Amino acid sequence: MNVSLERLRRCHFAVDLGAARTRVYVKGTGLVVDQPSVGAVNTRTGALIAVGELAERMTGRTPGYIRVVRPVSGGTVVDIEMAQRMLRHLLGDRLRRSLRRRPRLRAAACTPHDADPLAQRATIETLVGLGARRVELVDTLIAAAVGCDLPVEQPEATMIMVCGAAATQVAVLSLGSIVNAERIPVGGEAVDHAIVQHLRHRHKLILPSQSVRPLQVALSGNGLSPQGPSSTQIHGRDVVTGLPRSVEVDTAAVRDAIQTPLTAVLDGIGKVLRDCPPDLVADVAERGLMMVGGSALLPGLDQMLRQATGIPVHIAERPDVCAVQGMGAMLEGRIAPLVLDPLAA
Ligand SMILES: Nc1ncnc2c1ncn2[C@@H]1O[C@H](COP(=O)(O)OP(=O)(O)OP(=O)(O)O)[C@@H](O)[C@H]1O
Ligand SMILES: [Mg+2]
Repeated sequence: MNVSLERLRRCHFAVDLGAARTRVYVKGTGLVVDQPSVGAVNTRTGALIAVGELAERMTGRTPGYIRVVRPVSGGTVVDIEMAQRMLRHLLGDRLRRSLRRRPRLRAAACTPHDADPLAQRATIETLVGLGARRVELVDTLIAAAVGCDLPVEQPEATMIMVCGAAATQVAVLSLGSIVNAERIPVGGEAVDHAIVQHLRHRHKLILPSQSVRPLQVALSGNGLSPQGPSSTQIHGRDVVTGLPRSVEVDTAAVRDAIQTPLTAVLDGIGKVLRDCPPDLVADVAERGLMMVGGSALLPGLDQMLRQATGIPVHIAERPDVCAVQGMGAMLEGRIAPLVLDPLAA
């Protein structure tokens, strides 16, 4: 068996610390945590008062002395101590105790494709603080490909796109390794930001963060294509008066507003394919592109990519949890051992 897969099989739990969500898989148990990567801190006492969904709901609604913090940004742990505290709370006492009972606790974590050594170090230190004696880093692209059952170990090429909150990663894989990959620093957050900015400029409306999703859903119907509903009503706060106001938003204009971030993603796909050997590109043209990550659920994104690239585009069954489930499969030894080398360089 491949040495690195053997090392992963010895891990007790796997963590995917994302910019938007934190997910934890415990060997023999399954996915135990899938919560927003958010904490709420009382700035007077320094106490962590909420994490996950509850802390997320507090965003934009807290009194002055409570600060909502996000310890992971741009796909990297930027506040190691807060990330550790958040993870401890999310795991809860019972799980933490059962993990700590293992004599030599080993953890696996996925990191973005081109994560620099500093970012890798931050992830390792976060898990060491949780009691791990050893941490194995897995490339997110490989973890996600395994998680959505792509036949990565075959010589025929497969193409995957991990659509996260902070970034989109695209790769062509063959024989268990990455032939060519790109990380585009544009994800769900950039799409949300483009929508918020559009409403601010066009309608002088400040949109509460919770209202972005309903607007995205209004874009669906027939996806990002022009056949969706022509307008939708949105509530927000007037930029000048500060008073609540509703506006009728033209969905075609919102579609245009999110074209800029999506164009960057298209450029990334083009770049990956341009630098690939023609035989592999032919495989991709036949098998298509598999979308994973939470932002793969952005209504109509698949259709837009299909139209723009001309290749078949598929969305994984549970796109948001593919990476952590892929690590889980490796921990449990549920994958073909062949030539796969999932460990990050
Ligand atoms: N149904 C949906 N429609 C549109 N966007 C969605 C949907 N569900 C989740 N998202 C978006 O997906 C993103 C979260 O995806 P994911 O959980 O893969 O991110 P992450 O792993 O935390 O981020 P990263 O990998 O970039 O660090 C968020 O930006 C969220 O807005
Ligand atoms: Mg992710």
